[in-house]
Amino acid sequence: MSELFALVTGSSSGIGKEICTHLLKNHYTVFGVSRRGSTIEHENYIDILADIRDELAVEDMYKIVAETTEGLDLIINAAGICVISPLHETPSKEFLDHLQTNVLGPFHVLKHGIEFVIESVTHVINISSIASRVGLPDMGAYCASKFALSGLIGVCSKEWKSMGVRFTNLNPGAIDTPLWDNADSAAPREKMMKIADFINIFNMVINSSSDVEFPDISFLPREGVSPQ
Ligand SMILES: NC(=O)c1ccc[n+]([C@@H]2O[C@H](COP(=O)([O-])OP(=O)(O)OC[C@H]3O[C@@H](n4cnc5c(N)ncnc54)[C@H](OP(=O)(O)O)[C@@H]3O)[C@@H](O)[C@H]2O)c1
Repeated sequence: MSELFALVTGSSSGIGKEICTHLLKNHYTVFGVSRRGSTIEHENYIDILADIRDELAVEDMYKIVAETTEGLDLIINAAGICVISPLHETPSKEFLDHLQTNVLGPFHVLKHGIEFVIESVTHVINISSIASRVGLPDMGAYCASKFALSGLIGVCSKEWKSMGVRFTNLNPGAIDTPLWDNADSAAPREKMMKIADFINIFNMVINSSSDVEFPDISFLPREGVSPQ
């Protein structure tokens, strides 16, 4: 078991899974969180099944973390959903699910994660999106949820400032992950960024001096903001 501890939501797929793998290579003990569970097998990987929309499930998740450590160096909110549809075709239930997964989930993770803050060490990294900065057609529910996430993080970063917690919102454009598997097949996945592009930037952020703050980093595929 290493001395560095990270909690990563969204560990069963895409960006969250790749973050876990990267952190394990860099000698972190990783608590990975998802509903399905991850296929990652590593002696320093602890898989936790939890639906982050459910506050009690998040409290139980932290009970598992507490069996191993009292503090987290990294808290990474990567779990998220994105369904593509124009506003007039978006069911309210789907809109609500975006808010519950992409905003309420991180709220639960941070609300109960405060117990694991290590003063002047803990770094909270949110995998937000360029959709937190600009309205993108056919992504109304997603954009609304990611804009709301920015507000939540803005508040939390100020409330936790006295504890010396660093916050970074990573705002990528389209990255080729399973998130797009159910999207319109016309979405040109070959023009999206690769997960490796994301990991390069993530790596720079986690290895930066603790005297440096990166509140927001936006990065896009060369050919534009939207994959459509
Ligand atoms: N791919 C892109 O183009 C892109 C661009 C910008 C930002 N992002 C953001 O990056 C993050 C990761 O996306 P991705 O592309 O890696 O998508 P992905 O491959 O679909 O992975 C999403 C992850 O979120 C987890 N998740 C979803 N709902 C959850 C819930 N209620 N409780 C716990 N875990 C839940 C999923 O696990 P389970 O289903 O097992 O629960 C899965 O591990 C998201 O926040 C997304 O908004 C992605």
